[in-house]
Amino acid sequence: MAIDVYRVREDFPALKRVVNGRPLIYFDNAATTLKPKQVVSAIARYYLHYPANVHRGFHTLSQEASEEFERSHEVVAHFINAYSWDEVILTYNSTESINLVAFTWGLSNVGEGDEIVLTVMEHHSNMLPWRRLARMVGARVRYVDITSNGLLRYDQLEEVVSERTKVVAVSMMSNVVGTINDVKRVVKVAHEVGAVVVADGAQAVPHMPVNVRDLGVDFLAFSGHKMMGPTGTGILWGRRDILEDLEPFKSGGDTIKDVTLDGVVWHDLPWRFEAGTPHIAGMIGLAAAAQYLMRLGMENVRGHEKDLVRYTLKRLEELGGEVEVYGPRDPEVRGGVISFNVRGLHHHTVGKALDIFGIAVRTGMHCAHPLHYRLGINGTVRASFYIYNTREEVDEFINSLKTIEMLKAKLAVMPVEEVCTGG
Ligand SMILES: Cc1ncc(COP(=O)(O)O)c(C=O)c1O
Repeated sequence: MAIDVYRVREDFPALKRVVNGRPLIYFDNAATTLKPKQVVSAIARYYLHYPANVHRGFHTLSQEASEEFERSHEVVAHFINAYSWDEVILTYNSTESINLVAFTWGLSNVGEGDEIVLTVMEHHSNMLPWRRLARMVGARVRYVDITSNGLLRYDQLEEVVSERTKVVAVSMMSNVVGTINDVKRVVKVAHEVGAVVVADGAQAVPHMPVNVRDLGVDFLAFSGHKMMGPTGTGILWGRRDILEDLEPFKSGGDTIKDVTLDGVVWHDLPWRFEAGTPHIAGMIGLAAAAQYLMRLGMENVRGHEKDLVRYTLKRLEELGGEVEVYGPRDPEVRGGVISFNVRGLHHHTVGKALDIFGIAVRTGMHCAHPLHYRLGINGTVRASFYIYNTREEVDEFINSLKTIEMLKAKLAVMPVEEVCTGG
């Protein structure tokens, strides 16, 4: 069933905005998505009607808040088909989820001479925590390269993974080249040598059906704000038998069953990993977002984006050699992220010019510097789609790019604002 995109758009007031005299076209969904009214209402209901702390009181408001907060874990568990709600740990973003694994499981299971396998397409958030861990324990980091089409080199993965490998950390979908990795294949290779697989689902979970039972990974990290939830919400799902053996990442209130002056009994899952007052409203909002997506159906979400990608790649061909697109051409193995450069123009200049047409894209290295260096470039323009984007918006985007191309000589001499360094 196709998504009724015009009906969906009614739920996103931000889409009614006019930017620089043009109706907003929001193509920056890989950075963060817009939020529907349903999510904002769920957050407002909490703050207006039962804004109490969780797990800390027998009074009615605290019980209502606790119930809704715990229920959010259940909704997310259902969304990714986890075995149980308590395998779902609330964090603040994917970055924190991955750090949690690296510095709990990693610190107690990776040692001197062991190897950590990453890919060159990882976001810094799934690269730097592992490199730091490697430095701390004396382990070695090894990388798997990509093909000229931006696909993972599975042949090389098989060579690199060995008895020394303790963990393979892999993105399910690249935030730059859009490649959807065959994570099941990675799991097969890693599990043959007893290595643990950590999947970075930041770009995948919001955009396609993800079923942790079927996927077979040991940990899955993703961000609530990239799936229409509030900022400051992330998830770590982990295999129960592994999580149960771990000590907290951050300790303090809520992580314990009992504390004496010299001893502590850690709490059950997931509370052991949810230290201090959590982002209660955020988690309630995230549950509303997951419910919204489940109502649409994740197969339909993926189908909608696949159609937009196919259409955009086709229309970009009209610009001939003036636009270079990175990553696979086949929409079956790429998600709704299209990174490109306009020949002769700096990526920031193109981004700024698109903004003049009311089109929001991201420019820079998208927190994946090593991948850009691997591609031999110093940045890209990235257009990324979601459930509310339309073919008509793509048409506007292509028309704007054609105008930018025509004005190239004038634009090329404009000073480039180096606005984006971190990403
Ligand atoms: C593939 C990937 N991993 C991790 C992250 C980090 O997400 P967050 O900033 O929510 O921690 C991002 C964010 O862009 C991403 O695209």
